Amino acid sequence: MPHQIQNVLVTGVAGFIGFHLSQKLAKEGFNVIGIDNVNDYYDVDLKEARLKILGDLEGYSFYKIDLNDVQLKSIFEKHSIDAVVNLAAQAGVRHSIEHPEDYVHSNIAGFVHLIEIAKNAKVKHFLYASSSSVYGANKDLPFEPSNSTDHPISLYAASKRSNELMAHSYSALFDLPVTGLRFFSVYGPYGRPDMALFKFTKAIIEGESMDVYNYGKMQRSFTYVDDICESIFRLITKVPQKSKDWDGLDRRPDKSFAPFRIFNIGNDDVVDLNYYVELIEKKLDKKATINYLPMQPGDVAASKPSLEELVEQIDYRPTTIIEEGINNFIDWYLEYYQP
Ligand SMILES: NC(=O)c1ccc[n+]([C@@H]2O[C@H](COP(=O)([O-])OP(=O)(O)OC[C@H]3O[C@@H](n4cnc5c(N)ncnc54)[C@H](O)[C@@H]3O)[C@@H](O)[C@H]2O)c1
Repeated sequence: MPHQIQNVLVTGVAGFIGFHLSQKLAKEGFNVIGIDNVNDYYDVDLKEARLKILGDLEGYSFYKIDLNDVQLKSIFEKHSIDAVVNLAAQAGVRHSIEHPEDYVHSNIAGFVHLIEIAKNAKVKHFLYASSSSVYGANKDLPFEPSNSTDHPISLYAASKRSNELMAHSYSALFDLPVTGLRFFSVYGPYGRPDMALFKFTKAIIEGESMDVYNYGKMQRSFTYVDDICESIFRLITKVPQKSKDWDGLDRRPDKSFAPFRIFNIGNDDVVDLNYYVELIEKKLDKKATINYLPMQPGDVAASKPSLEELVEQIDYRPTTIIEEGINNFIDWYLEYYQP
């Protein structure tokens, strides 16, 4: 395998993206060492169900442990970790307004604890989840990785931007190759119960009313989880090199003299929220009862990624169409929950 990357520590494997990524990496022949604290931010049964499926994978080990746990170091020693994909985090924009401390614990303290161990273990590549939310109040669409990210509108976004900055400092000081992954609204089977697709599907099935913000006037990049996993898989072995042509006058946040890169990973075929709701209604053959509300704090009305750098690096772009993705999600939901 290029760069001799074989043993990959994936954090947050009981989570939505970690679950899918672990399956993809195991299928591609990597050994996946998964960790997760299996917290109760949402339905723990769903996390346990994902872990149960992962338990059957070839070359897979799992540890129930927090990012901040002192025992984390011993996992690196035991499995000679070559690369890290850090997906464990406190996610969710809304939750960050009421529970800022969770973001400090997992996204700030936990992140530093992990990257410090990874640096000491001399891993060959450290990749970590960032988010499209780092673009904050920036309205310059499509979002380019080189755009300003200096105006976050939630603590969640600020914590993700902090990860990028902390990663840069490790890359600059210790030559640690780091890659930041700015995901755009990820969805798919085994998806998160706190996200729109899950909430809308559940509400329509149960005949409950559902909240639609900004009176439905939103355009979003919704990205199918398999496209995210394919992109991460391709990026793992693309270990960043130092940019020789970078000088101290270059203010772009995604490039550096250090082995440091940031990529958008999203579908650039953006979708109107009203059409999104129509697709769910059509698949369920049932009308939604919609409670239209103003924009909610911390959220943005439009998102669209520029994918130039991603495509150049991995010769791949997320292209799963929304009709297919929603179809797959609802098929899974109906089978899993048997409503
Ligand atoms: N899903 C999206 O649309 C999206 C968009 C942008 C960025 N992201 C980022 O991608 C990553 C994965 O997201 P997801 O949707 O799979 O979320 P998720 O909540 O389903 O998964 C995160 C997992 O991390 C675990 N975790 C949280 N804090 C931990 C800690 N301190 N120690 C150990 N484990 C911990 C949780 O138990 C959970 O299983 C996160 O970093 C998230 O912020 C997700």
